[in-house]
Amino acid sequence: MTLEADTLDRPLPAPERKAIDAPSISGGHGLARPHLLGVEDAKAMALPAMRETFAVHINPGQLHFMKLLGFDKIKVERAEGMHYVDQNGRRILDFFGGFGSLAFGHNHPRLIAARKRFQDEQRHEIAIAFMSQYAAALAKNLATISPGDLDMVFLGSSGSEAMEAAVKLAERAAPAGRKTIAYAENSFHGKTKGVLAVTDGALYRADFAVTGNTVRIPFGDIAAVEGLFKARPDVGVIVLETVQGGGGIITAPTEYWQKLRALCNAHGVIWVADEVQCGYGRTGRFYAFEHHGVVPDITALAKSLGGGKAAVGAMIASRKLYMQAYGTPKTAMIHAQATFGGMGEACVTAIEALNTLYDDALIDNAADTGAYLIDRLDALKAKHPTLLKDVRGQGFMVGLEFHDLSQTLPAMLRPVVAMLDDKLKGSLPGFIGSHLLADHGVLVAFTEYNRNVIRLEPPLICTRVDVDQFIAALDEVMGRGVSRIVADFVKRQVRA
Ligand SMILES: Cc1ncc(COP(=O)(O)O)c(C=O)c1O
Repeated sequence: MTLEADTLDRPLPAPERKAIDAPSISGGHGLARPHLLGVEDAKAMALPAMRETFAVHINPGQLHFMKLLGFDKIKVERAEGMHYVDQNGRRILDFFGGFGSLAFGHNHPRLIAARKRFQDEQRHEIAIAFMSQYAAALAKNLATISPGDLDMVFLGSSGSEAMEAAVKLAERAAPAGRKTIAYAENSFHGKTKGVLAVTDGALYRADFAVTGNTVRIPFGDIAAVEGLFKARPDVGVIVLETVQGGGGIITAPTEYWQKLRALCNAHGVIWVADEVQCGYGRTGRFYAFEHHGVVPDITALAKSLGGGKAAVGAMIASRKLYMQAYGTPKTAMIHAQATFGGMGEACVTAIEALNTLYDDALIDNAADTGAYLIDRLDALKAKHPTLLKDVRGQGFMVGLEFHDLSQTLPAMLRPVVAMLDDKLKGSLPGFIGSHLLADHGVLVAFTEYNRNVIRLEPPLICTRVDVDQFIAALDEVMGRGVSRIVADFVKRQVRA
């Protein structure tokens, strides 16, 4: 949302602190017990206190956007399957899906049961001192699912951590003099300091000193890859999302991936495929690269790997490269699991989740119901061509690109408003997303780089009935036409 683009640089005023104050209690040993909220206090926190706490302690700027979109009026009390349930008992259909983290929807009963059993049996969590049978089983499952010799598994707790591990392994395995890493325009691989070097967001990179051994190329342009490999023998690694998520659901054809594999083989370049968002069955195959009949040297998963209940990320690497990088007792600890890598309950959740993924044929559902979703969206595009510019993606990883605001207006107004298009980018998807939530109880996701794109990443349990509900809602909102979409948004802001 960029409606107030001119004001975005100004710091927000400090919020008044009243809703979250509470009495302090003194404890033993002469130390004043700090006033701490309890779990029940947290559950009972009312919206004003939540807003205030978010502004005072978490992120005031982010709250600003939540307010614009009306997201700050929702307190989620429960979540089950495809839905959040808010403070008024209203069910919100989740087509955002935590950017792909909710393959099983919310609180899948089979995953909860596995976690409860694990707790009741008082199993151990930290996997540093002794080998963990749970980490071992999860690693074995991931190696079984992964094609080729993608056999070595590093477990962490986020996508960024998995990608850090992937890029570090590739850099170590690359021969001396070949440590330069190629990455793509509009890429997103995480915001931790290491992977910022291959994440292409000027805003995210800000003034941080990112590592110097990188080179940027356009995504999906095989001639650019070939030219780079020929001209720069120092390039030993290439890092690519198989489907660009933050870029606005951008794919490349099979021909591109097959030539990329061949070029990497010919030039001895290590290919790292980031499947954090597009992997785990979302596109209709476990890995998106499997659509193209190719196998990368290293890949990474996260998001739904923890079944929407646990924070789990994994790097899966070719055994040959792994051994080159960390295969001796001396090198083994250079990048071994961190404190929370391979935690017991997280691994057990991930094991149960993988079994559920196949038992419930959720990857097939992503392919079939995803195709149905895209068909219905194509029909909406034909019905609302002045608003919806493009529908793209595969399975349940779908991008809806809207026109720049100027292009949705009568021809005579276009040239004037076009001057503002850059500043207004993201406004139309913002208005539409806000109406979907307020008027239809439907949640969608916005997009980092191409802000004209709404992302749809519903849980893989999504049915045709859910799709029909979503389509009816989007049809109604787009049917209002651009002037009413804007006017209704402004009215809601005035009322707020
Ligand atoms: C493709 C990709 N890689 C890496 C990440 C980073 O994952 P995380 O937010 O779990 O650190 C993301 C997150 O959105 C992603 O989409």
